[in-house]
Amino acid sequence: MSQENVDLEARLEEQEAFEPPESFVEQANVSDEGIYDEFEENWPECWERAADLLSWDEEYDTVLEDDDAPFYRWFTGGTLNASYNCIDRHVEDGAGDRVAIEWEGELGETRTYTYEDLLEEVNAFAATLRDLGVEEDDVVTLYMPMVPELPIAMLACARIGAPHSVVFAGFSAEALATRMNSAESEYLVTCDGYYRRGDPLDHISKTNEGLEDVDHEVSDVVVVDRLGDELEHDLAENQHDWADLVDDNRGETVEPVSRDAEDMLFLMYTSGTTGQPKGVKHTTAGYLAYTAWTSHAVLDIEPDDTYWCSADIGWITGHSYIVYGPLALGTSTVMYEGTPDYPEKDRLWEIIEKNEVDIFYTAPTAIRAFMKWGKEYPEKHDLSSLRLLGTVGEPINPKAWKWYYQHIGGGECPIVDTWWQTETGGMMVTTLPGVNTMKPGSAGPPLPGIDARIVDTQGEEVDAGNAGYLTVHNPWPGMLRTLYNNDERFISEYWEEYSDEEADEWVYFPEDGAKIDDDGFITVLGRVDDVINVSGHRLGTMEIESAIVGVEGVAEAAVVGGDHDVKGEAVYAYVIPEDGYEGNDDLRDQIVTGVEDAIGPIARPEQVVFTPELPKTRSGKIMRRLLEDIASGNELGNTSTLRNPEVVDDIAKEVQGD
Ligand code: WTA
Repeated sequence: MSQENVDLEARLEEQEAFEPPESFVEQANVSDEGIYDEFEENWPECWERAADLLSWDEEYDTVLEDDDAPFYRWFTGGTLNASYNCIDRHVEDGAGDRVAIEWEGELGETRTYTYEDLLEEVNAFAATLRDLGVEEDDVVTLYMPMVPELPIAMLACARIGAPHSVVFAGFSAEALATRMNSAESEYLVTCDGYYRRGDPLDHISKTNEGLEDVDHEVSDVVVVDRLGDELEHDLAENQHDWADLVDDNRGETVEPVSRDAEDMLFLMYTSGTTGQPKGVKHTTAGYLAYTAWTSHAVLDIEPDDTYWCSADIGWITGHSYIVYGPLALGTSTVMYEGTPDYPEKDRLWEIIEKNEVDIFYTAPTAIRAFMKWGKEYPEKHDLSSLRLLGTVGEPINPKAWKWYYQHIGGGECPIVDTWWQTETGGMMVTTLPGVNTMKPGSAGPPLPGIDARIVDTQGEEVDAGNAGYLTVHNPWPGMLRTLYNNDERFISEYWEEYSDEEADEWVYFPEDGAKIDDDGFITVLGRVDDVINVSGHRLGTMEIESAIVGVEGVAEAAVVGGDHDVKGEAVYAYVIPEDGYEGNDDLRDQIVTGVEDAIGPIARPEQVVFTPELPKTRSGKIMRRLLEDIASGNELGNTSTLRNPEVVDDIAKEVQGD
């Protein structure tokens, strides 16, 4: 290692604040810090700036209607179409030849769609959906991996005003059925399979298994043929090959349906504190305006950029920042099908070099894996095209931040650590890369127009440096409108805790712990509810517990998150076997399979610990905090308030393996 590198490393280790490079600031979409005051002084009209990024069929009358809070309505009176905004208008503006989607398959094949191409594909699939009988407001479920047909299907749904509900391809058959049942969705688009680490993976069998548990009639299923001859499968009577249908409709034009600003654009199911996932409803204008605005202001996206977010479109990050935000701005968005270590651990850096990616957005868990693999992998590639880096999904530790800054950004790219949620639609707390100082480990101040505060259990703001709860005290255009068919749960999950209903003062509670410093920078500490964050994937401990107690031989189970070097958190399951059953490898295997069947491999327990008892308070509540400490290897606090303190040592020994 050269002396220069040693010096830089030593400097980075000590440094706690970083200024954005002058060269970045000069070209940034937003570089004036006055924007914070501007938004505050002119709220809510400030959000017209976001709405101005869109093309409207009918101008809106009112920016915000709050007479029925917390059921806020944005840009009311306006009409527009999301697919038109993401495609047609760019073609009309003469950018038809610009790349819209650059797709990299895992095996090395690529597909490039210009805006013109994308328009043709989306039109053809929109016509196909119409032919199948899909009408405005019918929910279409998309159970698809990272193939270009996924964003094409999303935009085709948007074109005809049919909300989509994307179910992450890694979710199980059962998870698919639960979501289709909840949304009463009668149409499904899926895929025969996809590649993982070079091997074909069967997806259609899982789909068919899920369809058996759908409690209503499913009219049609469209199947993308990704694997060709590698996977033989039959199509049932109501199942159609994507290519056959689309070829029949090639050349068709489907007029984009004018949607009301508040019409639903999509549903996205996410984990909550009960076993039942929540259907988060996002609307056409507010969501699109907000993702476009944050893509512009935070990701600094320009139309001639090549931008890459390495998330999966099956999660909100992919919806907002692979598809809707970037395409609304008319940029080129990269999509990668596979894993970051196939065929080698430099795959992502190879993709960046080859496509001359300007902006790269990924998750801390990925960065921690890159660190483990070593800097020699990025060093093999010319990453100098990069101008900005981003992270999302979980807290990033300063060490990983600095590694990312040095080895991927070459010390020359600002990093935006963006805090947000499925429910918020887009970024909420992060630095503006052309404005703010960066502090590794701290997401930054709330974005302009966002009134986020850290409060104690009474709702009083805490002093700088103290931990409290993150809360949002005003609405924003990208917010969820409700939980699908469940207004009551919408209120109880997000608003009840800190709002004063009588005073009509509404406070959104995201269920995250956080602290704030003297500069107003927020450090997010993690979830304070029974949701854990494994590799940036949100999982409900209740969902996992109910899968485990469904396994024969299990009497009781408690699931918690424990610290994990790469994944951030990992699933730990503490299980009491039923009388007559033994906690052995056999039962352990069945528990793991049970979890995979109910949710998917992402929820697989890191460790299953059998115990005759769980630590409980005198009132019979399981002491989860204690189980978390055991899983994380933390020192255990006072256990004297327990009804059964003696079980704690036994469990801890079991976890530590001695
Ligand atoms: C966590 C993902 C710290 C947080 C976009 C939140 C973060 C949950 C960050 C939402 C961040 C997301 N720093 N924690 N930058 N970003 N989180 O719905 O706990 O999958 O509540 O949305 O991820 O997860 P979701």
